[in-house]
Amino acid sequence: MCGIVAYKGSQDSIEVILKGLKRLEYRGYDSAGIAGFEYGKLVCCKKQGKVSELENKILEDQFSFDHGVGIGHTRWATHGEPNDKNAHPHLSQDGSLAIIHNGIIENYGSLKKELEIHGYEFASQTDTEVLVNFIHFIRESENLSTEEAFRLALKRVIGAYAVVMLSNTEPDYLFAARKGSPMVIGINQGEYFIASDATPIVEYTNEVIYLKESEIAIISSESYTIKNLDNAVQDPRIQTIDMELEAIEKGGYDHFMQKEVFEQPESIANCMRGRLVLEKGELVLGGINEYSQSLIHAKKITLLGCGTSWHAGLVAEYLFEDICRIPVEVEYASEFRYRNPIINEGDVFIAISQSGETADTLAAIELAKSKGAIVFGVVNVVGSSIARETHEGAYLHAGPEIGVASTKAFTAQVTVLSMIAIKMGLLRGTISQSQFQLLISELNQIPKKVATALKNNDQIEALAEIYKDAQNFLYLGRGNNFPVALEGALKLKEISYIHAEGYPAAEMKHGPIALIDEDMPVVFIATQDDSYEKIVSNIQEVKSRKGKVIAIVTEGDILASSMADYSIEIPKSHYVVTPLLSVIPLQLLSYHIALKRGCNVDQPRNLAKSVTVE
Ligand code: F6R
Repeated sequence: MCGIVAYKGSQDSIEVILKGLKRLEYRGYDSAGIAGFEYGKLVCCKKQGKVSELENKILEDQFSFDHGVGIGHTRWATHGEPNDKNAHPHLSQDGSLAIIHNGIIENYGSLKKELEIHGYEFASQTDTEVLVNFIHFIRESENLSTEEAFRLALKRVIGAYAVVMLSNTEPDYLFAARKGSPMVIGINQGEYFIASDATPIVEYTNEVIYLKESEIAIISSESYTIKNLDNAVQDPRIQTIDMELEAIEKGGYDHFMQKEVFEQPESIANCMRGRLVLEKGELVLGGINEYSQSLIHAKKITLLGCGTSWHAGLVAEYLFEDICRIPVEVEYASEFRYRNPIINEGDVFIAISQSGETADTLAAIELAKSKGAIVFGVVNVVGSSIARETHEGAYLHAGPEIGVASTKAFTAQVTVLSMIAIKMGLLRGTISQSQFQLLISELNQIPKKVATALKNNDQIEALAEIYKDAQNFLYLGRGNNFPVALEGALKLKEISYIHAEGYPAAEMKHGPIALIDEDMPVVFIATQDDSYEKIVSNIQEVKSRKGKVIAIVTEGDILASSMADYSIEIPKSHYVVTPLLSVIPLQLLSYHIALKRGCNVDQPRNLAKSVTVE
C-alpha cells in the first residue's frame, strides 16, 4: 500500500528510483512521482497512472537530478482521488522540503486548520501535503534545524507513516522515519537505499536495517544515524537478507501471478524443507519453542487474518478441530477488535499474513497481546512487523509474492498451519503415531500432486474462453473445501471483476439457489470425501435448474463428472490436505478468465498488495 524508494549514492538516482518503484508497483499504482535537486533546487515530477507513465514524463520533460540523491513514490490513494496533484512527492509551500509518505495521518484535519491560520494554502487533498507543511512550519516558526523540526513534527502526528524527506538546506541528506508502516534501509559502501520492503534493494546489497517503530534515520554522504522520537541515538542491527533477484523477477512467465501459481510445487516444498523429515518420521517447527506448551495445552485457538489469509485460517479451523480437538475461532482481524472481544490472560492466537504488514491484523495482535494473550505468527515476509510483534511463529518460506492476488502464500499458509496442527495433534495425543505418519506422508506428496494439478492448465484456459463473459459465478464446497470455494470466488472477483460468491454447498438451498439459471456457472468442489454424495445431490439441484456446472473432482471420478458440464481432475489425496490441491484449478481459472477479459492480473484496479492502512 504505497511504495517508497529513496537513494543516496553515486549512481544515477532517477534510474535507481524508477527501477525500485517498478519493483514496488504491486503496493499501489494509482500515480507515481519522484523528487530530487536540479541546479540545487528541489524539483518534483509526478504523474497519475503507472510508473511507466511517470518514466515517459521524465523523458519528455528531460528531467534530471544533480546530487546523487532522490525520493520516489508509487501511490494507492487514501486521501484524495488519484491524480497528478495528489500524487507524491509533496513539496512544502515554499518549495524547500519534499516528502513521500506511506500511511495515514489521522489528525491531519486539525493540523491543516492550524496551518491555515498561519497562512498556509494547499494544492492537494492529501494528508501528506499537510505533513510536509507542518514540518516546515515547525522549522520556521521555532527556528529549528530540519532534523529537529522533522522529529518534533512527527511526535505530534497521530496515525501511521513511513516517510522520507529532502530539504534544500541540506541537499546531501535523507530524513526518514516510520511508525506503523514498514521501512527498510539498504547499506552498500557509501550508498544508501530506503524502501517499503527489500525488493528494490536486493540487487544492490543484502545488508539491511529494518527501521523500528517510531525511529528516525538521518542519512548523509558520510554516515547514517538512527534515533528515536525522543532524540536518543539507537544502535541498529544490520541484518543480512537472503533473497535472490530471480525470486522477484518474472523468470520467463508473462505475469507474476502466473509465475507464483506455477511455483507452488516448489514453494510448498520450501515451506516443508527441514521441517518435515520423513525418514525420521519427524516434524520440526524451529520457530515454536518457548511458547509451545501454550499451544499444546490451549483450550481454544483464535485465528486472525484478512482476505486470503482469513480463508487459510478457515481451512485451519477444520484441521485444528479435527486433528487436535481444540475449539477454534477464525476472526476477521478488521472486525475482531471493534467487538470488545473476550480475551483472557494466556489465550492462544495465531495471526496469518503474507505481507506481515496488514494494519488490521497488526492492530488485532496488539489488542490480544495487551490482554496477556500469546500470539503466534504465520507470516511470509521475514522481518516484517507481524513477524516481530508476535511471540513466536513459523515463516512460510514461499519467497516474495508480487502478484496482488495471493496464490502461493495461501498454499504455504495452509501447509504451515497443517504442520502445526499435525504436530500438536501428536503432542496432545489426539492422533496416534500411525495417523501422524500417514498425515506427514500425505503432506510430503503435495508438491508432486500440485505439479500434476497444474498440468490441466490448457483445459482450464479453454474453459475460461467459454465462461469469460459470465456476469456472476457461484463457488460451492463442503467441509474444508468450503473455504476453498470462498478463495476461488475472491480470486475471480479481484482480478476479473466478475461478481462471484462462495458458499457452503448445502447452504445453496437456503437462498442462493434462487440465482441459478442457464447463465449461471457454478463451480463445485466435488472431491471424493465424506461429503461427496451430498455434493453430488447439490450438483443435481443446480443441473435441474439449468445451471452450468464446472466440477473439481478427484482423478478417476465418474458420477460428479458425468453430471457436470465440465470437470477438472485433481490427484487423489487424504481429505485433510485436499484444499492444497482443489485451490489450484480455481487459481488458474481466475487467471485465464481475467486475461481473456483484458484485465491486468498483477495489478487489479483499486487493490494493493500490502494493506497498511485500516
Ligand atoms: C487476496 C489478497 C488479500 C490479502 C489480504 C491480507 O488475493 O491478497 O485478500 O490476503 O489483504 O494480506 P496479508 O496476508 O498480507 O495480511
